[in-house]
Amino acid sequence: MIGRLNHVAIAVSDLAAAAAIYRGRLGAEVSAPVALPEHGVTTVFVTLPNAKIELLQPLGEHSPIAKFLERNPDGGIHHLCYEVSDIRAAREKLKAEGARVLGDGEPKVGAHGKPVLFLHPKDFCGTLIELEEV
Ligand code: CO
Repeated sequence: MIGRLNHVAIAVSDLAAAAAIYRGRLGAEVSAPVALPEHGVTTVFVTLPNAKIELLQPLGEHSPIAKFLERNPDGGIHHLCYEVSDIRAAREKLKAEGARVLGDGEPKVGAHGKPVLFLHPKDFCGTLIELEEV
């Protein structure tokens, strides 16, 4: 059902420092910061030949990554995003198998302008999973 790995998201407390590590030390192609207030994050996109890395910094008081950074003050891998061709069909299949979809279960427009859903880490080997319809 899942297709390509779309991106790995890394939560950080200092986005400029993280962008400098990827641009300078690792020599990657790094975007300017993009504020996504509806998701509570500011993002820098790192484009690799086979996938993207998204560096996420909290934005606003109720950022969904604030608690994660409290537990992981140095930053850390926050979620993996897999591509699916039909996000609603994927959701129905997963729910029928007992997997938990986060939020109200309705796809929301993600950082790339496409529908996304998040799946409970306890149902997926301790990893928060994002599905993106492509
Ligand atoms: Co993501």
